[in-house]
Amino acid sequence: MQENLSKICVNASTSYDVIIGRNILKDTGEMVCSVINCCKIALITDDIVDELFSSTVISSLESKGFTVVKFAFKNGEESKNLSVYGEILEFLAKNELTRTDAVVALGGGVVGDMAGFASATYLRGISYVQIPTTLLAQIDSSVGGKTAIDLPSGKNLVGAFCQPKLVICDVSVIDNLPFDTYLAGMGEMAKYALLDKKVFDQINKDITDLERLIYLCVDYKRSIVEEDEFEGGKRKLLNLGHTPAHGIEKLSYYQVPHGKAVAQGLEIILKASLKHGYIEQKTYETLLETVQKCTRARGVKANYSIDEIAVACLADKKRSGEYITLIMVYGVGDCRPVKIAVKDIKEYLSC
Ligand code: GLY
Repeated sequence: MQENLSKICVNASTSYDVIIGRNILKDTGEMVCSVINCCKIALITDDIVDELFSSTVISSLESKGFTVVKFAFKNGEESKNLSVYGEILEFLAKNELTRTDAVVALGGGVVGDMAGFASATYLRGISYVQIPTTLLAQIDSSVGGKTAIDLPSGKNLVGAFCQPKLVICDVSVIDNLPFDTYLAGMGEMAKYALLDKKVFDQINKDITDLERLIYLCVDYKRSIVEEDEFEGGKRKLLNLGHTPAHGIEKLSYYQVPHGKAVAQGLEIILKASLKHGYIEQKTYETLLETVQKCTRARGVKANYSIDEIAVACLADKKRSGEYITLIMVYGVGDCRPVKIAVKDIKEYLSC
């Protein structure tokens, strides 16, 4: 295996490594071998990722003695539903995976969430490994053990916390991404820039050093997950921009990708933070400039009014009875939860 790898150990309820490097998919077998005994592996992926990377991953796993069966579903958020989830479970059962076998999730956030949730629930839980193939999944969704599927009523409404055994981030796969998918990941990167000064500084120093940026985002997420794995408190910060983003996704019938919606959600939250006096004009401009440095190039503007977004975001999981908690920005690396009455949400967000 290569020397120039970075490794971040996440010490959650179970501990695991996130390995970050270039051209490391071909070493999947060796890396998986170090955490999972030889067994049958169900590789879960989508049709687009399947074409690009499955054969490398399967050959590598087979070379280390794993038996691999593969399930590929149609790429996209529309697949993240009860029906495809049921098909994955049935596939695992038909292929007679037992509790000593494992799942490998090869793909973006949708694949990771679905395969993770299937692993969390099949036989009351089997081991799984995340191999995220989008920037968004590498810096966020593959780390921390959140797994979920969508319901017609909203995103990620059914899920479980279940930590993977290993996360393998091959930064070179990002080079193969459609530009739009790459930029959607940069929307999530902008969130980390507001949450963590190290990410903020790196973006303003050298936004092209993806390996370093991925490392910093994962390391920040590690610190949050170690402190609050089950989202009782601090982990809620990672929802920065996500409440309006989920509203935008819902309004677009999930045609606006998650990372793009997050980018717009961040701009809405920044404006509201200025309006309510949490940040001053100068800080607002600096933060907005950094968010737009990540996201401007792709014209993220969705055609929805703040009123529509405010109503749609009330289906968000963070709603609790007559209140909803939004994460607001007080400065770089200083974001805080603010509880708002549902009846006031339109006025609160509109500027
Ligand atoms: N993506 C937010 C979290 O993992 O908590």
